[in-house]
Amino acid sequence: MGHSFRAALITGATSGIGEAFARALPTTTDLLLTGRNKEALGRLATTLGDGASGRRVETVSADLTSDKGLDALCAAAAPFAADLLICNAGFGPFGDFLSAPEADLRNTVSLNAMAPLVLMRRLLPGMLIHAEAEGRRAGLIVVSSGLGFLPVPRLATYAATKAFDLSLTEALAAELSARPVDILALCPTATRTRFSERSGYGRNPPGAQDPAHVASQALVALGRQRTLVLGAVSGSVLTVPALVRAAVAQALQTLLPRR
Ligand SMILES: NC(=O)c1ccc[n+]([C@@H]2O[C@H](COP(=O)([O-])OP(=O)(O)OC[C@H]3O[C@@H](n4cnc5c(N)ncnc54)[C@H](OP(=O)(O)O)[C@@H]3O)[C@@H](O)[C@H]2O)c1
Repeated sequence: MGHSFRAALITGATSGIGEAFARALPTTTDLLLTGRNKEALGRLATTLGDGASGRRVETVSADLTSDKGLDALCAAAAPFAADLLICNAGFGPFGDFLSAPEADLRNTVSLNAMAPLVLMRRLLPGMLIHAEAEGRRAGLIVVSSGLGFLPVPRLATYAATKAFDLSLTEALAAELSARPVDILALCPTATRTRFSERSGYGRNPPGAQDPAHVASQALVALGRQRTLVLGAVSGSVLTVPALVRAAVAQALQTLLPRR
């Protein structure tokens, strides 16, 4: 991590990569943690809150597939004044598109694509105003996926939402390149979390990486690069297109008229 943040908002903090981010940040960073699981949020607040250092750990239980959940989170985020936003919550049902319940597909798009878009649109302006006024930099990490580069049968909707996350984040990194915010699209390949089990795919594939490694590497990369592909074989293969896409986005930022 290039510099320390005062306060971080992490979605999907109750397990996996989101929880790993919460554990990886230093105790000088206050936390606003969200997910639906109230017990897990309570446990994290107890574990990560530090009475000695005066660290603030707040939690919001919210379903981010709904406007109600997004509104509740944004209401809590306003006074919290996060300078680091980590859009991580995600889900991807595995299976044939034609037999998938429509509600599952809609929820996948709402959680993976619409929720980060809404959070970024609502929170980034305030984050930038504070950063500019205080002469420091804000941070944004959006958790896409290695699958965001690929069309994936039986994970078609999930992969499409991760392509959305990747493209949106890369474009914003270029569009806001002159502003005081570091933006990172994080694209892990298989990681040992509850994701595979929840998706209906089954157990984590062999060689899946440690979520603590993913979170710590992302914090190191923030401010140094715009896209981070993490994982064994496919990670290295996807790094080249990531660099090309970042260069194209920056060229378009210069070429396209301002509105
Ligand atoms: N694991 C992998 O192999 C892998 C690879 C590439 C990218 N990713 C991405 O990494 C991110 C984190 O996933 P993970 O692997 O850490 O999986 P995970 O352990 O299943 O964690 C998912 C998180 O999202 C939250 N969440 C799920 N549905 C939600 C909803 N409707 N509203 C609010 N929060 C919700 C969960 O909290 P609650 O259950 O408490 O709501 C949980 O904290 C996702 O965006 C995923 O697409 C994962």
